[in-house]
Amino acid sequence: MIIKKINHWKSYISKLLYILTKRQKMLLVGLVVLAFISSILQTLGVYMISPLVSAMTDSDVFLSNSIIKRIAENSGTNDVRQLFGIICTLVALIYVIKEIVSVFQLWYAAKYGAKVQKELSEGVIRKYMYREYDFFTSYGTANIIRDVTNDTNAVYVILTCLSSLITEAITTLMIIIYIVVADVKMSIVVCLLAMICVFIMYRFFKNIMKRSGEEARVRYAENRKVLLESVEGIKEIQVMKKQNFFLQRYSETYQKTQAPQIKQSVATSAPTYVIEGIFVVGIMLYIGISASVDKSFFSKLPMLASLLVGAIRLLPSVGRISNNLNNINYYLPGLNNIFDVIEKQSRFTKNGLEDKIDSRNALPFNEKLELKNICWKYENSDKKVIDNLDLEVVRGQSIGIIGKSGAGKSTLADIILQLHIPQSGTIVLDGANIMDYPYEYSRVIGYVPQSIYLIDGSIRENVAFGIDENEVDDDKIWNVLKKAQLDNFVSDSENGLDTIIGERGVKFSGGQRQRLAIARALYREPQILILDEATSALDNETEKAFMQEIEHLYGQITMIIIAHRLSTVRNCDKVYEIIEGKAIEKNKEQIF
Ligand SMILES: Nc1ncnc2c1ncn2[C@@H]1O[C@H](COP(=O)(O)OP(=O)(O)OP(=O)(O)O)[C@@H](O)[C@H]1O
Ligand SMILES: [Mg+2]
Repeated sequence: MIIKKINHWKSYISKLLYILTKRQKMLLVGLVVLAFISSILQTLGVYMISPLVSAMTDSDVFLSNSIIKRIAENSGTNDVRQLFGIICTLVALIYVIKEIVSVFQLWYAAKYGAKVQKELSEGVIRKYMYREYDFFTSYGTANIIRDVTNDTNAVYVILTCLSSLITEAITTLMIIIYIVVADVKMSIVVCLLAMICVFIMYRFFKNIMKRSGEEARVRYAENRKVLLESVEGIKEIQVMKKQNFFLQRYSETYQKTQAPQIKQSVATSAPTYVIEGIFVVGIMLYIGISASVDKSFFSKLPMLASLLVGAIRLLPSVGRISNNLNNINYYLPGLNNIFDVIEKQSRFTKNGLEDKIDSRNALPFNEKLELKNICWKYENSDKKVIDNLDLEVVRGQSIGIIGKSGAGKSTLADIILQLHIPQSGTIVLDGANIMDYPYEYSRVIGYVPQSIYLIDGSIRENVAFGIDENEVDDDKIWNVLKKAQLDNFVSDSENGLDTIIGERGVKFSGGQRQRLAIARALYREPQILILDEATSALDNETEKAFMQEIEHLYGQITMIIIAHRLSTVRNCDKVYEIIEGKAIEKNKEQIF
């Protein structure tokens, strides 16, 4: 059983070491060294105080103390008063140094902790941002927020608990050694008491803590989800006057997050009292029994008094050891999750390419983009949305894609965009399999999605998406705004390109948002532009003007235009309809 337990702890520690970077591990060593120094000083303080305590009852005992003897030898005096003065000064000095070290340790731990927390959080969001797109739709925003904030915090808490555990373990050991030197029997009693206390508290709370820790994570995510829905769905909520429904759910889920927290809070405080009780009863019993059986007991009283100081000093340390062990159990599920996240390499990070995106050139595109035998079905669904689809897009051509709602047009666009990796089939650009060149390929493609995502920033920031403000070319922005039929609107706005568009673009109309998304796609100067219902929110006239602009690009940009309105694809070179997962070429004369 003990071996099993040790193996458990070994696996936790190795997970922790896996998560931490080399630098973080070095800093951790610093933390442990500081903890070591501080606990040595702590015990030294206790050592030095003991002769003081004995001097208060009997000066002979004071003089016979080994520390006092040594000081007397070194200072050449045997005067009790002088020695008392010296020892007082020494104790004061040790405590001053100890407090200085403690403050430094506190500062170091806070700084180290903050650093680790930031780096971990950053590391986790980085892993997620490079994960496949389908992961996001299935895992959910609330869980991601929980992992990035809550779970990384759990790892940090475990680190502080471990460092505190080391400090307290060293302190306990030192004090026990001190007691062994003075009174072996008493040290055995104290040692046994300490072990019994920690063991009982650990056993009793272990499973409760682990379960509460796991429950807290789940409940936290549930509550976050309700919060997100309440805020994101506020328009519909207000229209339907459903505030109370969402508030009720918020209240319920909030309450559920508190139950495990209360358990944790009690489980980390209660042991201190229980341990105190066991300790005091145990030591009193020991002293009581010694007094009644040992005739010379009362002559030993002064020494016992100083031992008691040590034993009492042990109490908080033993209490903290137990609290830390319990807390570690509570936060373990968070550590396990972060370990899984960091260990699981996404398909892109596996190539170690993630930092080099911007330095990569676009794949050459002179001939054609070919989709061969593509099959795709969503997870948790048996139906193949795309079933053995073949499609060829020749450079400079424009392809229209039509089909019923739910036929799989957007899914096809997502596949061409590499958001979905097909279960079978290949996509080849001028002979190069795009799977092998995800970044180079992404530079070829521009995309205007069916539902547009705008950031709460200026028009400039939204068009030059993900580009540093001082690297943005304003002339180019005006140029693409003109193509997207948005230049008049922007130049009429008071703040021009600096006009703020509000969260998700609420200050813009649907059509304006769509045109902004078009401008964004064009800003990247793509060679292939995929428009997924990109003009569906525009009135006929604006759409017509936009399509005319786009037609200027025919021949330069290759276009894949997904549309409901046949008029949108009227001028395309080829029109395909998605039927039962396949792209069927339409005879244009027949449909128009
Ligand atoms: N994330 C998903 N998980 C499971 N099924 C999905 C998912 N996204 C889409 N589907 C299903 O795949 C099918 C194709 O959806 P898709 O969005 O590609 O249709 P569409 O042709 O673009 O329709 P529309 O014209 O309405 O935009 C639909 O039946 C839809 O229910
Ligand atoms: Mg669609």
